[in-house]
Amino acid sequence: MSIAYLNGSYLPLDQAKISPMDRGFLFGDGIYEVIPSYNGKMVGFGPHIERMKNGLAAIGVQFDWTTKQWADLCQQLIEKNGSGNLGLYLHVTRGTDSKRFHAFPENIPATVFAYSFEIGPEPVADKALAKKYRVAATRDLRWERCHIKSIALLGNVLHFQQGYEQGYDETLLFNADNQLTEASACNAFIVKNGTVITPALDNAKLPGITRHILLDILRRDGSIPVEERDVSMDEVYSADEVWITSSSKDIAAVVQINGTTVGNGEVGDVWLAAQTLYSAGKFNY
Ligand code: PDD
Repeated sequence: MSIAYLNGSYLPLDQAKISPMDRGFLFGDGIYEVIPSYNGKMVGFGPHIERMKNGLAAIGVQFDWTTKQWADLCQQLIEKNGSGNLGLYLHVTRGTDSKRFHAFPENIPATVFAYSFEIGPEPVADKALAKKYRVAATRDLRWERCHIKSIALLGNVLHFQQGYEQGYDETLLFNADNQLTEASACNAFIVKNGTVITPALDNAKLPGITRHILLDILRRDGSIPVEERDVSMDEVYSADEVWITSSSKDIAAVVQINGTTVGNGEVGDVWLAAQTLYSAGKFNY
């Protein structure tokens, strides 16, 4: 049983209880993060906490934990839950009100919840071991604030479920102009003629930390050209490689979209080069 954190106390996860009047429960009114930790070493702690702070500011939750307080919480979760491979889940809601009323209540403390869950072994840059992802693709029907890592994930859940029910591992999303946005729980990339291309950030995409680290590593290395720009679904279907990225997956190679084979249907050479660089550099963030 994972040891969780709730509002100042550490306790077994099944003993962590919140009020049904919590605005996270009633309205999905909160922000979350997932930070991967391998044998006690976190990936992207700084950028994850910065995104958490930006999200809380974007929705007007007054919550002023310092980066040091977040670091202590993460360290405690790692120590109390064994230092294997963990996803550290952090969650802050606007707090518990006495009534259900849409406007922000004044002067209620935020609810802070965190726990850890086991994740698989660290992804390795080895084509033979890489999982080949088969994904669906559908029109992105979420809201226009996807840059905020809101706990209100119903739009994402419905898109994920749509692909899942058809036996797919993820669902790629595209907007009304047939441009790729991201996936239901990942950012998305294509590779064409050796160039790595990913949709530019705006309010239709989460600014993924894996995306951020990967782009930074690739740019610093300089051997693989990188572009951030609009990507049409026609480009996606004719790409040499397609990848999805997230904290729990690193870089995952997509070999099929809605039944159509991507490239030669195999995990690609650019994936291998990129995952090699990512594996070597990710703990520096
Ligand atoms: N999902 N886009 C969406 C919609 C996501 O939910 C996620 C992460 C990403 C990738 O972000 P990052 O690289 O920071 O993990 C992109 C998390 C892992 C989740 O909801 O479990």
